Amino acid sequence: METHSLFNSYPLEDYRAHRQEIEASLHAMLERGHYILGGEVTTFEREFAEWVGVRHAIGVANGTDAIEVLLRGLGIGCGDAVAVPSHTAVASVSAIARSGATPVFLDVDAATYTITTGSLEAALREDNSIKAALAVHLYGHPADVAGLQVLCDQRGIVLLEDCAQAHGATWQKRKVGSLARGAAFSFYPTKNLGAIGDGGAITTDDDKLAVRIREVRQYGWRERYISAVEGVNSRLDEMQAAILRVKLRTLYARNAARRRLAALYTEGLRELSFADAPVVKPGCEHAFHLYVIRSKHRDALMKHLLDAGVPVALHYPAAVHQQPAYAAVKHGSLTQTEALVPEILSLPLHPFLSDDAVQFTLDAMLKFSAS
Ligand SMILES: Cc1ncc(COP(=O)(O)O)c(C=O)c1O
Repeated sequence: METHSLFNSYPLEDYRAHRQEIEASLHAMLERGHYILGGEVTTFEREFAEWVGVRHAIGVANGTDAIEVLLRGLGIGCGDAVAVPSHTAVASVSAIARSGATPVFLDVDAATYTITTGSLEAALREDNSIKAALAVHLYGHPADVAGLQVLCDQRGIVLLEDCAQAHGATWQKRKVGSLARGAAFSFYPTKNLGAIGDGGAITTDDDKLAVRIREVRQYGWRERYISAVEGVNSRLDEMQAAILRVKLRTLYARNAARRRLAALYTEGLRELSFADAPVVKPGCEHAFHLYVIRSKHRDALMKHLLDAGVPVALHYPAAVHQQPAYAAVKHGSLTQTEALVPEILSLPLHPFLSDDAVQFTLDAMLKFSAS
């Protein structure tokens, strides 16, 4: 069955909502004639750092590069291991491999889908080459950074954040991206802050690390044409920076719209015994990049909803260790990960979705319970 017309496209609606400002801003940028690392990137970096609540933001080409460049900036690479959840977008893991380091998979908390202190502790007992842990704030729920930071400090390893799905999520009123030594963001068009193409950024409070990251993102140059360190080419481009500056101004409002729609789903799901709503831990504000329910009847429910025209999706159909390319990666127990993979289901959610679309989804779910 075709997707019902109530379900509009987020990237397109997001563009239309900002069309005039984006087009004016692009026109001005094009006429200035400075197309690589010009004023739009510099200004976006300053505005985004301020928004996150850190001293530095460094624009890069995408979120995968943001993780790789962050690791390279920290001097983590060949011979080092980096702990990462297996339940994440594959990019969290491929970026580690691209830096030259070896990923080590951790299990996640059954309620928040983020790595636990216990799983990191177990990995550290087995592997003394682990130099960093990448906490992914999956779906928009902040990881338990307090416990993780204590453990990382005790063991002398670096805690990093993958904020690709969590722009604006908060932990103890502090935004993700400001909670560890460094953090990576993606501005892929479907993200809470999305470009019209690829984009990414690294945030940090560490002045020296910021300098190194700026070198690494552009061939390792400290001065033009002289590579002080080994680098890559991963620059946020001026057009995307101009677009992101426009969209950043409405990010609070868009996240509030996501949270309001999520609350409607959660309220509606109370009546249904076969599916659990996502959990939000005390002290945390969820960014609701995705609204992921859990059901023992997932496959049948997914088919039922797709047949009804509701565009549900899986994030993700397989954990990374279950994918052929990463089957050989080291890991301990992944019990929670393996239990959740067949039960998760993402309901449609974005800030331009109507209340009617949410109600349509809930009504279709009610019919499932009756069938
Ligand atoms: C958790 C997570 N990390 C990293 C990335 C990589 O971002 P990008 O697609 O911009 O490279 C994504 C994007 O899908 C993601 O969801």
